[in-house]
Amino acid sequence: MMTSSEIRQAFLDFFKSKDHKIVPSAPIVVKNDPTLMFINSGMAPFKDFFLGNQVPPAKRIADTQKCLRVSGKHNDLEEVGVDTYHHTMFEMLGNWSFGDYFKKDAIAWSWELLTEVYKLDKSKLYVTVFEGDAKEDLAFDQESYDHWKQYVSEDRILRGNKKDNFWEMGESGPCGPCSEIHIDLRDAADIAKTGGAELVNTGHPQVIEIWNNVFMEFNRKADGSLEKLPAQHVDTGMGFERLCVAIQGKKSNYDTDVFSPTITRLEQRSGIKYGTSEKTDIAMRVIADHIRGYFLHNCRWSTTIQFRCRLCDSSHTP
Ligand code: SER
Repeated sequence: MMTSSEIRQAFLDFFKSKDHKIVPSAPIVVKNDPTLMFINSGMAPFKDFFLGNQVPPAKRIADTQKCLRVSGKHNDLEEVGVDTYHHTMFEMLGNWSFGDYFKKDAIAWSWELLTEVYKLDKSKLYVTVFEGDAKEDLAFDQESYDHWKQYVSEDRILRGNKKDNFWEMGESGPCGPCSEIHIDLRDAADIAKTGGAELVNTGHPQVIEIWNNVFMEFNRKADGSLEKLPAQHVDTGMGFERLCVAIQGKKSNYDTDVFSPTITRLEQRSGIKYGTSEKTDIAMRVIADHIRGYFLHNCRWSTTIQFRCRLCDSSHTP
């Protein structure tokens, strides 16, 4: 079984092989953007590249970005611990095209990585494309649909609305239609009762989004209107902790090796077994989530650093 460190490294190696420059995570606290307090997505540090205000160091970049979703438009705080797949701080694996490749390559590479490198079961995967929005004068994303048809049968290509399939950084900023990849992690017996397609984007804890491919084409201005960007870009974000669940065959982010050493140490310290009561399970998940956020938020090179964990006194590669 691949460890979480191997999973992270495989992502970076894959995109390096596709001519991407690998860069470190930016710090979580945002210094020069009054519209954002914390980095809430992999694309936030690259906002000025998308808007054309700055020139990126390369047209293709890949990284793992530490993100914090505890405020503003993207706020997961109330879900943390209550469910098993939201976090305050999480890592977003991303590949970026700044005016270079667009939908065709982004879709082809995401499928190649998931099914040929990570070897995820194709029959468990679903994809979504933007259905369009008349009020905003935005068309159905036929181009993405047609690219997906080469890899996925049409009953697995679902149409999503503006809430799920039009990604916006905040109240203003770069945005565009997106195409998500979801995985169904349920047992065969549950799948036989209800097809996975019915459960995509319904909040089911085992039918979850793992990767979002955003096709940045617009800038949402402060007055709410959309203006076309000078170039087309790709912004993808894959939830590292969720990907580990899928690859390691677990049911919860907290059962992967990203969190299980911390949960085990919490059991030893508290004398409470994880999995015996919903109330204490939630508390242990919250503590494990917050500890990871505490240790990682200052670490710029989260892809490589090793640290000695004060909680379990062992060495972790976060
Ligand atoms: N910006 C998108 C997201 O955060 C994809 O990276 O989901």
